[in-house]
Amino acid sequence: MRGADGMAGIVLAGLAAGSLWTIPARAAPPAAPAPAVSGAADLKSDGPTQPAKVQDGQYTDKNGDPTYHITDDGKKVDWYTMSGYLRYNANCIVCHGPDGMGSTYAPSLVDALKGMDYAHFAGIIVGGKRDVNAAQELVMPAFGDNRNVMCYMPDIYTYLRARSDGALGRNRPPEHEPKPAAFEKAEDACMK
Ligand code: HEC
Repeated sequence: MRGADGMAGIVLAGLAAGSLWTIPARAAPPAAPAPAVSGAADLKSDGPTQPAKVQDGQYTDKNGDPTYHITDDGKKVDWYTMSGYLRYNANCIVCHGPDGMGSTYAPSLVDALKGMDYAHFAGIIVGGKRDVNAAQELVMPAFGDNRNVMCYMPDIYTYLRARSDGALGRNRPPEHEPKPAAFEKAEDACMK
């Protein structure tokens, strides 16, 4: 059996591997320009965080952290934001409330995600968190051995980041970009 660290490692390593692609290639000779994988226009997003790069339908910011791509006045989201919405509703809503708004038991993630980078977020999800000083002991469970969360951690972060940035309103996003083939492949490998 693969341990908790193993799975978290896969997700984090996947991201790290992805960011290797940001190492600039040697300048192509002007006579043979490389075909543009994504024009600047494709990267323009609603919301304050602009993606710096897209690969296989996954958008990342200038630090290599997963981020959203929202267009059409907030109506159309990238696949990862959509997937994150679904996974949030399956695994987090019971404590953190609809649309990340918080509940009497658990804090608003719309607020908590402000300025929280992916590594910090992943650390909390993998290991959990507990506030023993509160009048009622508050426990954020560790999800490190739960594939339904671990395999979709960048997705959930992307969705919550869009909510936190004010780029995405409440409720289910009306439209989304197609599910990338690479997503399906990674999902199969992770859930095995
Ligand atoms: C059983 C209830 C419960 C579930 C389910 C749950 N959480 Fe939490 N979560 C909490 C509590 C309670 C806290 C506050 C812990 C503390 O203050 O130390 C918390 C804290 C957090 C924090 C840190 C917030 C901050 O201000 O630093 C993040 C991020 C978070 N949760 C994300 C998630 C995500 C994403 C999911 C779904 C994968 C999830 N939680 C599922 C109860 C839960």
